[in-house]
Amino acid sequence: MNYPYHYKNGRLFCEEVDIAEAAENMETPFYLYSSREIRHSCQIIREAGSPYHFKPFYALKANYNPALLKLIREEGFGADIVSGGELYFARRAGFVPEEIVFAGVGKTEQELRAALKEEIASINIESEAELLLLSRIAANLKQKTAIAIRINPDIDAQTHEYISTGLHSNKFGVDAESAMQLYRMAAADPWLEPEGIHMHIGSQIENGQPYVDAARFLLNFIERLAAEGIRISTVDLGGGIGINYEDPFEKPEKARTFTQHILNDYLAVFKNRSLKLFLEVGRSVVGSAGVLISRVIYTKTTPAKHFTIVDAAMNNLIRPSLYRAHHPIAAVRKETTAPVVTTDVVGPVCETGDFLARERALPALKEGDLIAVGGAGAYGQSLASLYNLRPMVAEYLVDGSSIRKISPALTPEELADRFEW
Ligand code: LLP
Repeated sequence: MNYPYHYKNGRLFCEEVDIAEAAENMETPFYLYSSREIRHSCQIIREAGSPYHFKPFYALKANYNPALLKLIREEGFGADIVSGGELYFARRAGFVPEEIVFAGVGKTEQELRAALKEEIASINIESEAELLLLSRIAANLKQKTAIAIRINPDIDAQTHEYISTGLHSNKFGVDAESAMQLYRMAAADPWLEPEGIHMHIGSQIENGQPYVDAARFLLNFIERLAAEGIRISTVDLGGGIGINYEDPFEKPEKARTFTQHILNDYLAVFKNRSLKLFLEVGRSVVGSAGVLISRVIYTKTTPAKHFTIVDAAMNNLIRPSLYRAHHPIAAVRKETTAPVVTTDVVGPVCETGDFLARERALPALKEGDLIAVGGAGAYGQSLASLYNLRPMVAEYLVDGSSIRKISPALTPEELADRFEW
């Protein structure tokens, strides 16, 4: 299937929607998502899993907009949550408890209690203290619960250090020896059912090797457990499959290159094993489906640099500032005659770290022009803030030739109403 963002006569379209035309009636900046692309990403994941006993779970943290959640649920995904807030959104979006898994190093008593009461598919334990607390709550409520222990394999996922999670220096999971201890404790606990094992080694992983190493590590560990009489039925493989942040507008064939390869390699390690496989993916479901549309406010040249100042900023999309992430940027209307300039695309926020791109060669943009920032469907709006009292922007969903608002902007006026004056 073709990538939904494409140019027609120099105008950028999302599916059949002419973005510049649609934007005439909208305030910028805004997020725009393609339903078709989300469905397509879901399909790639489902197909890779089809030879196995496989269930994909969508990590809400990537984007929790209810319209997207419903779409992804309809595609047969469960929900991967990390907080009481995400549990609430998942349930309201119609995910049934049996299709919800809960990870996170710092689940509070209140959150564990809520998850227990809902009887979700698995609570993924990340420390001895958490196991003891859950055991107490379960005994108290007289309710059994399925758990997995999140194991930290000490494998380098070869990604940005802030989103690498499978090294012993990271806060996540427990090392193999401690995990063994926790399984023994859980197996002896009348309220805990250690059915699963969990691992998540990081995010934006572009190479299959760390996954294959991690999978072998898991299999080996499962055999050690079996030797002690502890039988695991479910392996939660985590998520983290990267998307290609190279320019998808000019090179659409590159927009989603990693998912299939990585999943094929990862899952193949479990061939011929009678294990249920869970996958918790966020970015690879929604990342390539979204763009952030923004308008140029000014351009400015200093003795050192050229700046393109746009109305979106780090409060809307923090990935470039936080991880030095590269996001493709394209003009919504391509001027073939425009000279190429090397420019920093920056927002109005009062921080030097507020940029969407640095030293980027782009056709010269002028005041009022619209730009599309690609790969913005995941960890864009979900990491947005109201910093500098800038609004959290509206989101729109395209399906074919229709476009609808799926969340309004959150304005400073609405925020102000929550305070006492
Ligand atoms: N499972 C667990 C336990 C996780 O911690 C995460 C992401 C996922 C699944 C989903 O990972 P994904 O498939 O989306 O890579 N804000 C960062 C990404 C943080 C990821 C946190 N955990 C970014 O913008 O790159």
